Amino acid sequence: MECIQIQGGNKLSGEVDIQGSKNAALPIMAACILVQGIVVLENCPRILDVEFMCRILRSVGVWVKWEKNVLVLDARQITESRLPREYVTRMRSSVMVAGAMLGRCREITFHYPGGCVIGDRPIDLHVKALKQLGAVFTESDDMLYAHAERLTGCRISLPFPSVGATENTVLAAVLAEGVTEIYGCAREPEIEAMCGFLNCAGAKIKGIGSSHITVEGVKQLHGCTWKVASDRIVAGTYLISTLAAGGDVYLKHAPVGQMESVLSLARVMGAGLICDNEGIRIVQSGLLTAPDSLNTGVYPAFPTDLQSILLAALCRADKDSSLTERIFNGRFGVAEELNRMGARIRVENNTAYVTGKRQLHGCNVTAQELRGGAALVLAGVMASGYTQVYNRHFIDRGYEDIVRDFKSLGVSIGSKEEFQTDERRKS
Ligand code: EPZ
Repeated sequence: MECIQIQGGNKLSGEVDIQGSKNAALPIMAACILVQGIVVLENCPRILDVEFMCRILRSVGVWVKWEKNVLVLDARQITESRLPREYVTRMRSSVMVAGAMLGRCREITFHYPGGCVIGDRPIDLHVKALKQLGAVFTESDDMLYAHAERLTGCRISLPFPSVGATENTVLAAVLAEGVTEIYGCAREPEIEAMCGFLNCAGAKIKGIGSSHITVEGVKQLHGCTWKVASDRIVAGTYLISTLAAGGDVYLKHAPVGQMESVLSLARVMGAGLICDNEGIRIVQSGLLTAPDSLNTGVYPAFPTDLQSILLAALCRADKDSSLTERIFNGRFGVAEELNRMGARIRVENNTAYVTGKRQLHGCNVTAQELRGGAALVLAGVMASGYTQVYNRHFIDRGYEDIVRDFKSLGVSIGSKEEFQTDERRKS
């Protein structure tokens, strides 16, 4: 089990360049299936989930090539409509390919998507919306087969603002006949990015960024060049890490306009923030001030993807606090490992009660999913002594190189081999 070794207890200082957004890149890559031309995606993050999506796209005939952090895709030839089990079951966002494949070639066969163990992750809202557009689904074992004689625009109301269901519905509507009115849409910035990309390729989408999106079907999409925005969750990870460990950090290219809930929370917690058009400077000294209670929610509320990282930070707050998860029903798994490091977190239903002023101590811990893994690395940065975080591959699904990033902020961190070499060099 590959691991990350950290010597904790120091403040953070330095600059980190925020990578491209995982949750914008993935739906845009799925959208490339709809494009009869060459797409150039700039600032695409080199992370495992993007690599998995590259393999899924190649399996249906899309030509995909990296040129540093630029991904070039050519979907003029779609040769297969059956997705490979190996990658679909490992990654939730593979379900996004369903809407695009139905839109492009009117059929797809795929396994139920996998993804993080952070609670129930059904796709009922996706299937219901695609059926309303004209898709017919049949199921055998854990396989789904969907096909459509034709896709016809209609009025669709999502009972919950699901990010993926919103994205999938738009993807299937872009080449459908007529107009599709989608109500109850999620408003996450990553949906705005995907719709912006599709319009750049010739789609006709209105209401972008609102809860009511209108898609007028077109015959074909053409190639284009698109720059992926920076990742607000990665930026939030290092911002909250600075809150917790203290220090003076510059988050270069942080998407300030997408981070209002995180920035306002950081101010309440006592951070000094200076935002400019290139990024965010955060200065934190002393213990962070914990609000009495905190909630995650749909955008623009505090994002569920930063909940685990905030949970770790609250262990070092000036007083006790509580954090309620309102999106997923199983996203406090990391609390157990944090408690092994000296935290005192009690989970009741969908609320975690966190004792403040805890001094964490290093130990061997194991990541079970992406954001919980990042939280354990932060805990290692905050803790006294050495921490080893195992199952690094979960973290690499969403962070290009969390070791590189924390190293640039002055943390003694590395793979076990790198770390021992560094330590030998220092001694
Ligand atoms: C996206 O997942 C993100 N993933 C998640 O980020 C993020 O946590 C989530 O949105 C919420 O913001 C990508 O964009 C690739 P949802 P998604 O559909 O689309 C329920 C990360 O760490 N639901 O908005 O799967 C579902 O069970 C990942 O980067 C249904 O009931 O999220 C959940 O409780 C983790 N039926 C809630 O909605 C459905 O058909 C939110 O899910 C679909 C969803």
